Amino acid sequence: MKKALVCGGGGFIGGHLINRLKSEGYWVRGVDIKENEYDNNNADEFIIGDLRDPNVADEVVTDDLDEIYQLAADMGGAGFVFTGTNDASIMHNSVLCNLNVLEAAKNKGVRRIFYSSSACMYPEYNQLDADNPKCSEDSAYPAAPDSEYGWEKLFSERLFLAYQKNHGLEVRIARFHNIFGPQGTWDGGREKAPAAVCRKVANASDGDAIEIWGDGKQTRSFLIVNECVEGIRRLMNSDFSGPVNIGSEEMISLNDFAKMVIDISGKNLTINNIPGPLGVRGRNSDNHLIQEKLGWAPSIPLRKGVEKTYAWIFEQIQQKVLEPVEA
Ligand code: NAD
Ligand code: GDD
Repeated sequence: MKKALVCGGGGFIGGHLINRLKSEGYWVRGVDIKENEYDNNNADEFIIGDLRDPNVADEVVTDDLDEIYQLAADMGGAGFVFTGTNDASIMHNSVLCNLNVLEAAKNKGVRRIFYSSSACMYPEYNQLDADNPKCSEDSAYPAAPDSEYGWEKLFSERLFLAYQKNHGLEVRIARFHNIFGPQGTWDGGREKAPAAVCRKVANASDGDAIEIWGDGKQTRSFLIVNECVEGIRRLMNSDFSGPVNIGSEEMISLNDFAKMVIDISGKNLTINNIPGPLGVRGRNSDNHLIQEKLGWAPSIPLRKGVEKTYAWIFEQIQQKVLEPVEA
């Protein structure tokens, strides 16, 4: 039986990944500073620990592991990463997790390790045109990410590749493009646009206007989490190190995305565009490399994923309303 460690296993993608590994017959250890609040974590062993502490990394990285998945990071949507107010802690916390997990993997002789990078590492100058953003893997340099979160991801990609070059680790790196789905953060300030828009629509009544940051013409692509996990597993089982995009090529403007969610809800709502943290003007995944190297690329239509996610967030809101108020 293969043994895997999922760092950040209490989080959104980590929780889904643990379940996927379990369904494939793995023995799985998860580690995170928090439990998975949606109780979707089926790890054989789950350790609450802070990976900024090298002793915790040393404890959870054992020499019997076949694979490590490093997803632990200080992470959020535009309201968290593009305001500038969290830059120092994002860089400090995520870099420490990466350094400690890598060093422990090297010391314990665990060879294969996955790292979750982000499309935020791509240069801003290629993402100024909402209709024609460029995010092919070979367009990463000259580097010019628009956020410190993106610079940290770029540095850490290089850190992982340096450990591969100098210490023989078998590194696999993916650049995720806005992953969404059930069990994803949907309130509290770290939520990304798909969950935020679903929440706003679910909370609204006929005749209301929902608020969308910016002019709504900025573009993104959004990938349902199941396909992200499929891509992670395929990359991990391949001979290709990456970095490679794991994202959807179905680009959409934010206002059109909001109209899609409104349509799914069946409500009669309008859109109010307001100022807010924006990030790049346009972004879309480029899936040529993943198709070439893995013979696979995400293909589930955006609307299907949004239907599932809207239903899940609607249910979360209903449950919150029904929660008994503590005396
Ligand atoms: P998430 O916030 O749900 O998961 C990250 C987990 O890391 C959290 O549960 C958090 O508690 C944990 N963590 C943070 N600091 C830690 C520490 N010091 N010690 C132990 N655990 C710690 O986010 P996610 O969406 O599941 O993202 C997973 C990874 O994928 C992250 O590295 C993120 O940067 C990357 N990523 C995600 C997206 C996306 O759209 N979701 C896009 C690009 C990259
Ligand atoms: N979060 C959020 N909430 N974004 C909104 C909202 C809202 O209510 N309304 C409009 N937006 C707009 C943002 O202004 C931004 O232009 C766009 O929707 C996308 O926002 P996010 O989904 O929050 O982030 P992102 O796509 O710019 O970046 C995310 O994805 C990266 C990977 O592709 C972030 O989560 C990054 O951390 C991640 O690496």
